[in-house]
Amino acid sequence: MSRLDSFIRRMQAQRTCLDWAALAIAGLPGDVMELGLGNGRTYDHLREQLPDRTIWVFDRHVAAHPDCIPPRDHMVLGEVLETMPGFAAAHRGGMALIHADLGTGDDLANRALAAALAPLLAPLLAPGGVVVANIGFAGTGWEELPEPDDVSPGRYYLYRRPAR
Ligand SMILES: C[S@@+](CC[C@H](N)C(=O)[O-])C[C@H]1O[C@@H](n2cnc3c(N)ncnc32)[C@H](O)[C@@H]1O
Repeated sequence: MSRLDSFIRRMQAQRTCLDWAALAIAGLPGDVMELGLGNGRTYDHLREQLPDRTIWVFDRHVAAHPDCIPPRDHMVLGEVLETMPGFAAAHRGGMALIHADLGTGDDLANRALAAALAPLLAPLLAPGGVVVANIGFAGTGWEELPEPDDVSPGRYYLYRRPAR
């Protein structure tokens, strides 16, 4: 498989998992978090799929396509490990969906980030809420779900906090 093939499959897996999540949270009250604005592609997809949800977006900086820049009062700028504790204290249990798209090709760094971030995210998730991530966030108050049929294992990750 060429790197182009691999990239396309990763993007397809991402879209499939986000579409799955949008359906999975239907009927569950709560906001959405987008960790990693980047170019704004997945933010744009989420706001299209979930037009009635408030979306909180995190990144170090805004470098998105001009059409995909979130409202300033819903953008949390800075290192996510530094900004998350304050945000979590104010939004406990308020998220129906968290999409984390922060990982890079550096597996060790991804694991370290996931290990540090997962305990900060767990209290934010509503019972029954869903985490969709490009890196593994195992073992933190939610259970891993199998990938949708057309997504290869390890390409994208799905978790759900058990409903009460
Ligand atoms: C892969 S890009 C996100 C792509 C985006 N979801 C899209 O569809 O266009 C990852 C983004 O996460 C941000 N990021 C990575 N690690 C971060 C951290 N520790 N704190 C804040 N932002 C971070 C980077 O600045 C980058 O914009």
